[in-house]
Amino acid sequence: MTDRPKTILHVLGARPNYMKIAPIVEALRAYPDVGQLLVDTGQHYDEAMAGVFLKEFGLPEPDVNLNVGSGSHAAQTAKVMIGLETVCLERQPDLVNVVGDVNSTMAAAIVAAKLRIPVAHVEAGLRSFDRAMPEEVNRVVTDRLADILFTPSPDADANLLAEGAAPQSIHRVGNVMIDTLLRFLPVATLDRMRGRFPLERGRYAVVTLHRPSNVDDPEVFRRLLDVVKEIGRRMPVVYPVHPRTRVQMGRLGLDFDAPGLLLAEPLGYIDFLSLTANARIVLSDSGGLQEESTALGIPCLTLRENTERPATVTHGTNRVVGTNPATILAAFDEWLARPPARNCPELWDGHTAPRIAAVLHRHVTGG
Ligand code: UD1
Repeated sequence: MTDRPKTILHVLGARPNYMKIAPIVEALRAYPDVGQLLVDTGQHYDEAMAGVFLKEFGLPEPDVNLNVGSGSHAAQTAKVMIGLETVCLERQPDLVNVVGDVNSTMAAAIVAAKLRIPVAHVEAGLRSFDRAMPEEVNRVVTDRLADILFTPSPDADANLLAEGAAPQSIHRVGNVMIDTLLRFLPVATLDRMRGRFPLERGRYAVVTLHRPSNVDDPEVFRRLLDVVKEIGRRMPVVYPVHPRTRVQMGRLGLDFDAPGLLLAEPLGYIDFLSLTANARIVLSDSGGLQEESTALGIPCLTLRENTERPATVTHGTNRVVGTNPATILAAFDEWLARPPARNCPELWDGHTAPRIAAVLHRHVTGG
């Protein structure tokens, strides 16, 4: 009698998950004795927020789509839990691999932990220490339940140890997003974008905003928009608008018509990388963009009060500037006059996924 082949179930939920899962799926192909199951929760569902990434990264069509869609935090989390529990009971995976900090990440970790299926968390240990951020709650819960904690930087290890995680469960493997970035950087040329935006290398800014704390609060959103318009007077600003932000723009009747401001729909990965890799500066409230700009050596101003990614500040090109217009504009001028030195954190080297795959393989095969 032969043993059932071991299976790792990966959870894809929202846009920032794709660039983290893709290199891990690829690296695990080096281990033919382990099967892989891809579950898309459907937290993000638009072509521009989900489908485009499957194609760009050459990911297989997900084996299962839970089609949970948008909803309140409780509704979305509950739908992922109900759907994934059925999948886990039917397919009996040997390990559930989750990435990042979206609602689908936490929901999947809870389901797997209750079914006594080992959980691996990629991007473990990041903390903003700000529980007003839904992602912080997701990070804390997921890490508490995970059996294997893959961290990107020493601060993450320290956070986990301070919370009582077992040292042997922590594996510092580096930043898996940078694997994807380095893979696609050679094709991310500004020429791809020239037909759409009249841009010159190093002479424009890129802006993204989608955090509820920034776009759901009308006063903060208006304030940030004024700063973006002011920057547009100094250099062209490309601003791909997240669906949450688009909804809010309509609701508040905000005027986005301003000189130098180039609004766009959400972009695919390679198009967006083409923009950021060739920009003078990036202004954003995104988590991933802080890391990507650090790896690219492009100055980044983070329009939040805190960051869960301090290595991008201590080692990289990031500066956390909050949402006060005067502070943002002063930092903008300073960063242009004296761009930060690039010093990518250790292990953000494009080889994180093979390190993860080796640990996962060892864990499921007992090797
Ligand atoms: C989610 C993640 C956030 C991540 C972000 C990246 C949580 C708590 N938040 O936030 O960490 O940085 O994804 O995008 O998991 N919508 C669409 N089409 C879609 C998806 C969403 O139109 O494909 C619209 C809907 O109006 C929805 C809104 O965007 O209500 C917000 O989507 P949701 O997934 O709830 O949160 P995000 O803001 O995208």
